[in-house]
Amino acid sequence: MKIVVVGGTGTIGSAVVEKLKSEHEVIVASKSTGDYKVDITSLVSIKQMYKDLPDIDAVISTTGASHFGNLNELTPEQNEIAIESKLKGQVNLVLIGQNYINEGGSFTLTAGIMMDDPILKGSSAAMANGGVASFVKSAAIELQRGLRINVVSPNVLKESEEKYGAFFKGFNPVTADKVANAYLKSAAGAQTGQVYRVY
Ligand SMILES: NC(=O)c1ccc[n+]([C@@H]2O[C@H](COP(=O)([O-])OP(=O)(O)OC[C@H]3O[C@@H](n4cnc5c(N)ncnc54)[C@H](OP(=O)(O)O)[C@@H]3O)[C@@H](O)[C@H]2O)c1
Repeated sequence: MKIVVVGGTGTIGSAVVEKLKSEHEVIVASKSTGDYKVDITSLVSIKQMYKDLPDIDAVISTTGASHFGNLNELTPEQNEIAIESKLKGQVNLVLIGQNYINEGGSFTLTAGIMMDDPILKGSSAAMANGGVASFVKSAAIELQRGLRINVVSPNVLKESEEKYGAFFKGFNPVTADKVANAYLKSAAGAQTGQVYRVY
């Protein structure tokens, strides 16, 4: 399959690319580096990506920014980060991409454990995660041309403990390799409308 991994240079994305590249043609897309540069917060950029990369069988999104902050200090502007990037950015990859990717192709998006298991400072990210997961379940029953869609909701990664560990005290970190398997299951399998919780 020809697979584009948006966010493919990141912690999760690079593990996904590593897992897929022996058996698939993988295009690594990210905002500033990789094989192809795309900004998921720009409709123009997303459309251009699909025009520039024809014949795609699977789109995997391992990206999406959110602001972490206490609810009583969270401003609407800070909350917009998660709305624009993690929620709308990923949803727009699907809304636009459904008209471009190959028949029988798939989308796999990324949520996160905070949608089920709240942490302090996590309400904005949790909002986006829950929105992405609900969108996926709903979109799955309407996608045309045999297109499939799933979402992976990872626990905090072992590889990200230094960066995020303080937010996730008492959680049981999972390896990037285990998380990457869920993306493989989504893209290479036959399921649709699934939320793969890697907790
Ligand atoms: N790491 C964890 O423990 C964990 C756990 C659960 C859920 N998640 C979720 O998984 C996703 C990825 O996390 P990560 O830790 O792997 O992130 P990461 O290491 O920071 O990587 C982010 C990736 O997204 C790309 N990116 C950033 N902004 C973009 C944009 N506007 N358009 C296109 N690409 C963009 C980055 O490219 P550039 O470097 O070029 O900007 C990079 O490839 C996030 O949604 C995160 O919330 C992560």
